[in-house]
Amino acid sequence: MQTAPSSAASLYDRVRRVIPPVEWPAFSEDIDAILALKRERNAIILAHNYQTPEIFHCVADIVGDSLSLARNAIKVEADIIVLAGVHFMAETAKLLNPDKTVLIPDLDAGCSLADSISAGDVRLMRQRYPGVPIVTYVNTSAAVKAESDICCTSGNALAVVRSLGAPRVIMLPDEYLAKNVATQTDVEIITWKGHCEVHERFTAADIRELREAHPGVTVLAHPECPPEVVAEADFAGSTAAMSDYVGQHRPARVVLMTECSMSDNVAVDHPEVDFIRPCNLCPHMKRITLVNIRAALEHNRHAVSINPKVEARARHAVERMLAV
Ligand code: 13P
Ligand code: SF4
Repeated sequence: MQTAPSSAASLYDRVRRVIPPVEWPAFSEDIDAILALKRERNAIILAHNYQTPEIFHCVADIVGDSLSLARNAIKVEADIIVLAGVHFMAETAKLLNPDKTVLIPDLDAGCSLADSISAGDVRLMRQRYPGVPIVTYVNTSAAVKAESDICCTSGNALAVVRSLGAPRVIMLPDEYLAKNVATQTDVEIITWKGHCEVHERFTAADIRELREAHPGVTVLAHPECPPEVVAEADFAGSTAAMSDYVGQHRPARVVLMTECSMSDNVAVDHPEVDFIRPCNLCPHMKRITLVNIRAALEHNRHAVSINPKVEARARHAVERMLAV
């Protein structure tokens, strides 16, 4: 939980290294309005690590990777949760808080992985591989979660697969996450052809070029990257794990093979670390702005609802994951 600041003016010092002074006036009025609206409406903002620094460091109450956002969603006491992230994250928060209002500031903040698979596809996989447990990445719709046995995130995928004690597991829909998990276990993993449009663009050649251009650079990669990228990296882990790695190891120079805002957000707390920044933007994460967060709080939009036909089964898959 981040400490609750009372005004934008007291916040600029924190983000001055990643937000140029010329940009700050464009943010400060919305920040002040959002801080006031949160108090008035007893609302809380959960923000993913890919949110831009003015959201992540200036208005969010809880920040983290998909796993910690889900874990923290259970503990929320506020009446309203604004999810500064993408739609599947807001659905997960709603599944875990059925009686609260969960708002997503832009309904079109989707995810290429969530779009890569439907509930019908999962049913077909179950028919094709009878008795094989289905692990579904949280980057999916509630309808897809409802067809699966358990969910996972990039932070717990290996632990979830191991927890099933099965010789074969179906892992959907991220082919690369599944293949990266498969390198760490004897469990046979059957997967799907879904990819993250941000991480699939990194290549092993990118890493080799970076190492030549920046000798000694530490390379961290998200496990949604292709396996050959993960193989060339020094460490692979969820967005929270990458952030923790920088905090613990304090490499002199680091590159994060992931979404662009990660480096900005981590750099705020590590002025001693030199961040090399080839990165890819997630257009879905970038749909969330201070302007639409403010509008969400002012007009109660867009309230997330879950189809009652899938709600209980989807919740079960998420809760089973949280119990691992
Ligand atoms: P994390 O769970 O590692 O934060 O990843 C979520 C995501 O969407 C990565 O692209
Ligand atoms: Fe989806 Fe990739 Fe964007 Fe994450 S970064 S929300 S996996 S498209």
